[in-house]
Amino acid sequence: MATRIVLYTGKGGVGKTSVAAATARRIAADGRRVLVVSTDPAHSLADVLGAPIGAAPTALAPGLDALQLDDRAELTRHWSAVRAWASRTLVGRGVDRISAEELSVPPGLQELLSLLRLVELREAGTHDVIVVDCAPTAETLRLLSFPDLAHWWLHRVVPRQEELLGTVRPLARALLDITLPDRTVLDEVGRLMESLLQMRALFLDHEHVSMRLVTTADSVVVAEARRTYTALGLHGVATDAVVVNRLFPDDVGPYFAGWRAQQQEQLREIEEAFAPLPILRAPFFDREVVGTDALDRLGDALYAEHRPEAVLHAGLAQELQIDEDGARLRIAVPLVDRDDVALRRSGDELVVEVAGRRRAVLLPPAIAHYRPTGATLRDGVLDVTLRPPPSTEAQ
Ligand SMILES: Nc1ncnc2c1ncn2[C@@H]1O[C@H](COP(=O)(O)OP(=O)(O)OP(=O)(O)O)[C@@H](O)[C@H]1O
Ligand SMILES: [Mg+2]
Repeated sequence: MATRIVLYTGKGGVGKTSVAAATARRIAADGRRVLVVSTDPAHSLADVLGAPIGAAPTALAPGLDALQLDDRAELTRHWSAVRAWASRTLVGRGVDRISAEELSVPPGLQELLSLLRLVELREAGTHDVIVVDCAPTAETLRLLSFPDLAHWWLHRVVPRQEELLGTVRPLARALLDITLPDRTVLDEVGRLMESLLQMRALFLDHEHVSMRLVTTADSVVVAEARRTYTALGLHGVATDAVVVNRLFPDDVGPYFAGWRAQQQEQLREIEEAFAPLPILRAPFFDREVVGTDALDRLGDALYAEHRPEAVLHAGLAQELQIDEDGARLRIAVPLVDRDDVALRRSGDELVVEVAGRRRAVLLPPAIAHYRPTGATLRDGVLDVTLRPPPSTEAQ
């Protein structure tokens, strides 16, 4: 049976690490082999679980292993040739060494490389479930547009690699006084791009891979969770539940009564906005969620009505249908208005822009020349019709 992967993301400090750890403990208690993975360099997973966790799966309890991804090591593994070349070039152009080292790693790449390990961990097949404590939302989302970059690289740059190496390099050296990367560097980038595409394939496996949004019942935090939900849909990633953490209980007393009323109102908005996703709730405990007892209390609250590793909601994320007359692309972009959606063609890609975020959908060769002829937005699904241009012979 393929490994199930559940990822938790959300704004900073909402409880991602606590929820991930609690979830993993509960799954292990049910008798499954579970691995909880943190991509957060702050090492808080070890603090929460109260045990040191290494860069290889560390056994914590029967059936429960934990892993702290070392994003520096991953960076060295996947990006050292590029980094060395880029730093050399920058230093050659007068940039100081420390800035050059920093500039040679694109923003977000480090977090992205951590997630590449998921592909390997899943293939290893050593666990029934992998629970991932992701970086805060902004980072997680930036990652999702990298596979588009990978497509671009593999389709546009790689075919021209020889040309680049043969003609452009001596010219660049003579005219621009820069050294173009050698084959080692280009090969490394090529391998990374391949891995990114494998990672995208993993995220598109909705039967096995689900994202869960962690939020508190505060308007600003909820607003971010909503934007994330839309962006995940745009990138074809399935969200199967929302976790609302730190809800004040009924008997909170007069001082926090106002807070509680506000939270209840937000909770209603959350239910409306994210329906039909199930909403898992946890109370604001009277102490920090640290150690096994506290984690198990959190797990009991969250999963009173659900199996933690189940696919808690199966909905459309992205779908392409092709028939004789044309093609139909359906993308889930929940919680947006028609005015926030724009479509355009660019080469063999269909670029979908939703509320300022871009997604380039590479069309299969057979329909690459089709044009979008109509688009409707209904129940959070953008439905785009594509047809061949009127006279294909003229092409
Ligand atoms: N339901 C809860 N009741 C009380 N305290 C909580 C609850 N959930 C989490 N906490 C506490 O809130 C703090 C932040 O939680 P946690 O570290 O899990 O958040 P996070 O989203 O992983 O944060 P970061 O974005 O910094 O990684 C911790 O001190 C944790 O013990
Ligand atoms: Mg955390």
